[in-house]
Amino acid sequence: MNLEKQSVVIAGGGSTYTAGIVMMLIENQDKFPLRKLKFYDNDEERQSVVAKACEVIVKERAPEIEFLATTDPSEAFTDVDFVMAHIRVGGLSMREKDEKIPLKYGVVGQETCGPGGMAYGMRSIPGVIELIDYMEKYSPEAWMLNYSNPAAIVAEATRRMRPNARIINICDMPVAIKKSIADILGLKSESEIVDRYYGLNHFGWWTEMTDKQGNDLMPKLKEHVAKYGYAAAASEGNPLLDEESWMDTFKKAKDVYAVDPTTVPNTYLKYYLYPDYVVAHADPNYTRANEVMDNREKNVFAECERIAAAQTAEDTTIEAGEHAEFIVQLAGALAYNTYERMLLIVKNEGAIANLDDDAMVEVPCIVSKRGYEPLCMGKIPHFQKGMIEQQVAVEKLVVDAYEEKSYQKLWQAMTLSKTVPSASVAKEILDEMIEANASWWPALK
Ligand code: NAD
Ligand code: LMR
Repeated sequence: MNLEKQSVVIAGGGSTYTAGIVMMLIENQDKFPLRKLKFYDNDEERQSVVAKACEVIVKERAPEIEFLATTDPSEAFTDVDFVMAHIRVGGLSMREKDEKIPLKYGVVGQETCGPGGMAYGMRSIPGVIELIDYMEKYSPEAWMLNYSNPAAIVAEATRRMRPNARIINICDMPVAIKKSIADILGLKSESEIVDRYYGLNHFGWWTEMTDKQGNDLMPKLKEHVAKYGYAAAASEGNPLLDEESWMDTFKKAKDVYAVDPTTVPNTYLKYYLYPDYVVAHADPNYTRANEVMDNREKNVFAECERIAAAQTAEDTTIEAGEHAEFIVQLAGALAYNTYERMLLIVKNEGAIANLDDDAMVEVPCIVSKRGYEPLCMGKIPHFQKGMIEQQVAVEKLVVDAYEEKSYQKLWQAMTLSKTVPSASVAKEILDEMIEANASWWPALK
């Protein structure tokens, strides 16, 4: 089949994930052929390290693709079909503060969950909105596939502030968990699993999993999760699990599962259901941000520099993992009408029957040229409904706080989070966060 060639801009060209996405795009030229590949970032120096290596990779493996890296929005966003976005506003140094400030007060310090996620959300909102505006100005027909975190808060902000934007917010965590589940069950790949799942981003549960023949996979899976969480066999071939903190999270799924054995959980629920355990096992002086800086960031940038110096990527260690696979597959489904079933973050509008229409939920959707069509997951039980409604309110309050520049609303958001014990602790964290984010957040009244 002769597929129409696509033009893609990766926004956040200097991200540690960019080179992996480039490898995946190049490996998929038969399924998702490119005419142009562009990088856009607001940090020229950081982007150029990744761009110089990727230029070598493209020249060597797919020289027919026109490649360009720029910090000029008009050059970047003109004539594109897809914006693949993964920016980190404030960088890993601000992530470190998001994690370490709450820990000082005995509260979970995490990139997307709890007060750290809210602080990151307040920084991300204007960054992602700016990308949408560039896309709408220079390529109004394009789709933005957005990985930029905290995805739940960003999704609520984009729903409210740019309601007609062609943006799809996505997360690779369910795919990464399903990859481990495929290993556990002895399946060739996670694409053999057909699932029913509901919740919010980093806050959801699977109710059903079958194989393509309709055989129920849940009994065998539950037996495993009850004993080992998502770990054990899962470590093989899953690069995430090389890292200690992720291995711990995958094992802890055992205890998260125990709270509701009728479903299997997203790993991030450990931050809400076992915050005391998480804090007791955290090192307040060395958090996930430090782990990422010392491992992924260091390795990716060293490898990019090596490729640029050698002017060849023949023996590169850069890999295209499930993170890259998911975004390229989604773009392919939109471009070529494949009607694939994928978990996306979308407006509820009845997908979860007993939840407000305007919540941004993560549910399976059918993806085609028409966009996405969410599947109905029906009514959910009291336990999940209670947790989800509390968390939706937290996320909405953060966006209220951003829009209204309201100290009160952000204090309420932090107070309401299941990770925070009281309004007084919330206030202490908030006051320190305001100082740390002085150059990023709007001034709160
Ligand atoms: P990183 O800091 O290595 O890269 C982010 C890049 O974004 C940097 O080069 C930075 O200069 C750029 N940037 C920051 N603000 C920008 C702006 N306003 N405009 C343009 N560029 C901007 O970060 P990373 O660790 O590679 O992560 C990138 C993003 O992907 C983060 O938001 C992370 O949370 C997210 N992520 C999401 C998922 C998911 O499944 N949703 C998974 C992994 C990572
Ligand atoms: C990352 O930086 O990789 C995050 O987005 C997820 C993690 O590893 O903590």
